[in-house]
Amino acid sequence: MKRLTVPAIRRRKGGTPLVMLTAYTVRTAQLLDPHCDLLLVGDSLGQVIYGLPSTVPVTLEMMAAHGAAVVRGSYHAVVVIDMPFGSYEQSPEQAFASASRLLKETGAAGVKMEGGEAMAPQVRFLSERGVPVMGHVGLTPQAVNMLGGYGARGRSEAEAAKIGADARAVADAGAFAIVVEGVVEPIAVEITRAVDCPTIGIGASAACDGQVLVAEDMLGLFERTPRFVKRFDDLAGRISAAAEAYAAEVRDRSFPGPEQIYASKA
Ligand code: KIV
Ligand code: NA
Repeated sequence: MKRLTVPAIRRRKGGTPLVMLTAYTVRTAQLLDPHCDLLLVGDSLGQVIYGLPSTVPVTLEMMAAHGAAVVRGSYHAVVVIDMPFGSYEQSPEQAFASASRLLKETGAAGVKMEGGEAMAPQVRFLSERGVPVMGHVGLTPQAVNMLGGYGARGRSEAEAAKIGADARAVADAGAFAIVVEGVVEPIAVEITRAVDCPTIGIGASAACDGQVLVAEDMLGLFERTPRFVKRFDDLAGRISAAAEAYAAEVRDRSFPGPEQIYASKA
């Protein structure tokens, strides 16, 4: 299977919905890759893997290390890496330095950047210099200290208009796709109609051109469960049960059994 490309993703606007999941490690990437069009090395790894309180402390080094692992574990999906907080907001030049480092060190195809009108110069600067950019509007978790939490966005008319303007600005600046997170359904519908690149929803309704979830959330592995997460499995329960069974067998000496022991030479 040949790896998909950014232009191929862009052409999927209005077609069969795009499938995206997060991946942070090589084995998860290997397992998810055949089923996905895009793998996102999300800065959500700060909370999910490192137990940090938000994505704000995540560093470029963390994103590069996990991004390289995910590229090594995949050969079909387009791999996109989140630009962490503080690595792009200051200027287009800062954004290019961070993004080019991520692409060089990982082999990923593109980066994702939170923000709307204010980040349009960054999106344009990178897109015109060979770095495909995925936008991210609506609920933008890196702005948690401004937003005061992770509630749905766009409930007031003014906020809805601002999110729409953000999406159009990022699309006009050359984004190849836009994540629309945590918005009421009419906004997702409106944005998806308004922009010429695919929208990828998370907590944004089936009207989008694709969907993304944090893999650990949909696998039932992470304790936090926002309303928009559907649990497709209960890996937390299965891992606990396996650990419990192992502990019991160690304690009653039924593990290791004859099949797990090396025979002596003769
Ligand atoms: O970091 C992340 O996992 C994300 C997705 C949830 C869109 O940005
Ligand atoms: Na993210």
